Amino acid sequence: MSSENNTPWYHRTTIYQIYPRSFYDSNSDGIGDLQGIIQKLDYIHGLGFETIWISPFFASPQADTGYDISNYTDIAPEYGTMDDALRLIEEVHQRGMKIVFDMVMNHTSIEHPWFKESQSSRNNPKSDWYIWRDSPHPFLGEGPGVRAKPNNWQSLTGGSGWHYSAERGQYFWSSFLPFQPDLNYRNSEVKRAMFDIVHFWLSQGVDGFRLDIFNVIYKDAEFRDNPFSFKLLPTEDDPSGFFQEVKYNLNQPESFEFAKEFRSVCDEFGDKILLGEVSGDRSTIRKFLGDEVNNGLGLVFDFEMLNFQFSADYFRKIIQRIEAHFPNPFMPVYVFSNHDRRRSIHKLGGDLHKAKLLAMLQLTVRGVPCMYYGEEIGMTDLPLPFNSAFDPIPHKFKFIPRFVFDFLGMTINRDEVRTPMQWDGRKNAGFSSAEKTWLPVHGNYKEINVEKESGEDDSLLHTVQSVLKIRRQEKAIQEGSLQILNGLPEDVLGYSRKFEDEKIVLLLNFSSQEKEIRMDVSECLFKISTKDEVKNQAIRLDGLGGVIFKSR
Ligand code: GLC
Repeated sequence: MSSENNTPWYHRTTIYQIYPRSFYDSNSDGIGDLQGIIQKLDYIHGLGFETIWISPFFASPQADTGYDISNYTDIAPEYGTMDDALRLIEEVHQRGMKIVFDMVMNHTSIEHPWFKESQSSRNNPKSDWYIWRDSPHPFLGEGPGVRAKPNNWQSLTGGSGWHYSAERGQYFWSSFLPFQPDLNYRNSEVKRAMFDIVHFWLSQGVDGFRLDIFNVIYKDAEFRDNPFSFKLLPTEDDPSGFFQEVKYNLNQPESFEFAKEFRSVCDEFGDKILLGEVSGDRSTIRKFLGDEVNNGLGLVFDFEMLNFQFSADYFRKIIQRIEAHFPNPFMPVYVFSNHDRRRSIHKLGGDLHKAKLLAMLQLTVRGVPCMYYGEEIGMTDLPLPFNSAFDPIPHKFKFIPRFVFDFLGMTINRDEVRTPMQWDGRKNAGFSSAEKTWLPVHGNYKEINVEKESGEDDSLLHTVQSVLKIRRQEKAIQEGSLQILNGLPEDVLGYSRKFEDEKIVLLLNFSSQEKEIRMDVSECLFKISTKDEVKNQAIRLDGLGGVIFKSR
């Protein structure tokens, strides 16, 4: 599984994220499904990605599109059956690829039988499986008075995460939305039940998990109030916000320990990928990777770059900071968009040249790249009204005018980044033959689609495919060390990747001006927006040009 220098496979891989509802609809009900993914595996394989991560498709009322699970070992009927899931695992493996499921361990759906039982009384066998607390001031009851809640903690979506259950006469805690009650991991039966589920899927051949909001699993045992903070909105490097420091409900020491325990539970099945969705500054998220020997999750998302700025200077600095926090044997994850946040083309002003340069960076820097479906063709967000959203979040905020969120750069209606994959120029972009798709297809599908870009040599799709091919051939890119190059012209980012005596250099021109660089080239591997030949010592990059070459 590991190469000579013991780099685990999951540190060398490339990840493609599939949002199953929007990938491909095989049975014409307007909703993507597992058979649809199977039918499109050759496409992903042909693109060159080695691992697929699929957002949840388990039994669920779909109140948060599957991130609210009511049975972890059953498949939601709109996505298919258990047989389809097992066949998908097999088909992925037949192509030499890996498959990652989405584990939502922190919470279940309110419809999960565990919660129903837990809620039914204060003394049932599962009464302690969720986080139940009395009101400190019972006479205030469930009224709006903040003081009636067990403490001042806020949910990740804003507002108190305590919700009153009249059935039990107590509050339960939800880190995300009210219908997603948090499990109580201080109860060993809960842990065991979840580890059984994890073992079930690992024994079916799943290659690992993406771990949903892993950093909220444990909360302060004493439920102490969070301190006041002046911060209004949470940011990627500091999840404090809504005027409080998230001292006691996020990133608790027990959660870092749990990462190691979880890793050892999965290790029984071999070398598995465990990719944590966590938030906080880099020193904090690094703790989920365990101690110096890399005995924790193995990988965590680094979400700061979801808000990237398109400049050489920005990327130089962020790469340097990431290298400082995730040195060997750790490996960072480079992610520019996902099912919760704006697509990267939005941040690039719709410029496909810029998107190509960004893809070159993402696929060659030292790290595991994670690309959201449709990014390889430059799919764009589709503005949609809040009040008819499928996503529950915009309903929570529909009384606030949209321009406020646009101004703050926040994605509230996540439907906008989850529209159906644009396969070709036919009806519904070739995603489905149904009359109506679950979300509308973007009107630009005739210009932006896989079929069209597959036929164009200089398309974004072609760039992604070509760079992935080089990456698969070059150990220096998969696992080599990274050195930022100094002394380059302004707006040019350069770095070298080295493995044994192989050295590969990347030069990326973030400006629209031509730039000339003197450097030894022994073989040009790939270039974009650069008409001159790249050889010998003088490299001329056109505006937004980029080049990958072997050097001595
Ligand atoms: C994660 C998921 C998001 C989901 C939430 C609650 O942030 O990415 O889509 O709504 O957790 O499970």
